[in-house]
Amino acid sequence: MRVLSGIQPTGRFHWGNYFGAIRQYIDLQNEEASYYFIANLHALTTVRDKEQLWQNTMDAALDLLALGLDPNQANLFVQSDVPEVSELCWVLMTGTSMGLLERCHAYKDKVSRGLSAGAGLFTYPVLMAADILAYDANIVPVGSDQVQHIEVTRDLAQSFNHQYGEVFVLPQAKMLDTSAKVVGTDGEKMSKSYDNTIEIFEPAKQMRKKIMRIVTDSRPMEAPKDPATDHLFQLFQLFAGDEAKAEMAAMYRKGGFGYGTVKKALADAADEYFGEVRAKREELAAQPEKVREILGDGAAAARQQAGAVLRRAQEACGLKRA
Ligand code: TYM
Repeated sequence: MRVLSGIQPTGRFHWGNYFGAIRQYIDLQNEEASYYFIANLHALTTVRDKEQLWQNTMDAALDLLALGLDPNQANLFVQSDVPEVSELCWVLMTGTSMGLLERCHAYKDKVSRGLSAGAGLFTYPVLMAADILAYDANIVPVGSDQVQHIEVTRDLAQSFNHQYGEVFVLPQAKMLDTSAKVVGTDGEKMSKSYDNTIEIFEPAKQMRKKIMRIVTDSRPMEAPKDPATDHLFQLFQLFAGDEAKAEMAAMYRKGGFGYGTVKKALADAADEYFGEVRAKREELAAQPEKVREILGDGAAAARQQAGAVLRRAQEACGLKRA
């Protein structure tokens, strides 16, 4: 199986990114081939400060490596280091209808809020399709918010294949049952744009503070509560083993506890869960040369693969001769 996924360097990664996507990257990194990239071209549609974009990109690489991405197994690279993908994007763009892009949620949401959207945001799903198709990826591990984009990718690939022959592999989204949509501190989807995130590498004290401020319902302490509908429990279960989860669920059903107890348990569990990777990240941060070398090697391998697929597409549609 060939695996590919991308993540935008728009800020520091949060629990949603980790439990929805990054954890899957690591689980799948020893498949036949795996490609993971930092989507700085996509981030350019929103991050318009050059230092910030560069810093975010380097932070993203450190975060992914510290979390367990192994460059000996997976190719880790920066999106803009593979120009073949942007070329493929154009080829796909020529076969993309406006209607298809108008239905995509990132664009639609922005317009429905009365904001004007740039051409970068509008055509964003086509670049994402190029990202995926350039590596002949079968599997794309993501959270549920990216599924629509993968459907668009399949549509574009299918219509190209229909016109020019079997050029592209049709990819499939892969999600985790329990964390395809991780909730934030307010119970909505965890997202930077909702300001409800808890970052993976948030300083321990600050993280605890955020957890303590999570909004909970105001039912009396004695009342039994349904863990399935409580976002604090949803967050706790991300970190807990089966036993701790069952114990906590039983406590909810029985009632007679305070949310403070759950918050403390969540903060302790998160501390322990991410404790080791914090130390690993510090170690890596002291070796910027090594990180750059990893990204360089990853890009070289990615270019080779993307170059071959681009060539295939170019020959198929008459831009190049075999
Ligand atoms: P991005 O950067 O918004 O998110 C990166 C990954 O994190 C997942 N995610 C979540 N999963 C569960 N719960 C949440 N609350 C949550 N928030 C974020 C996302 O689903 C995603 O998997 N367009 C992509 C980047 C991209 C890409 C690609 C992905 C560019 N090219 C090609 C896959 C394949 C994006 O904006 O993800």
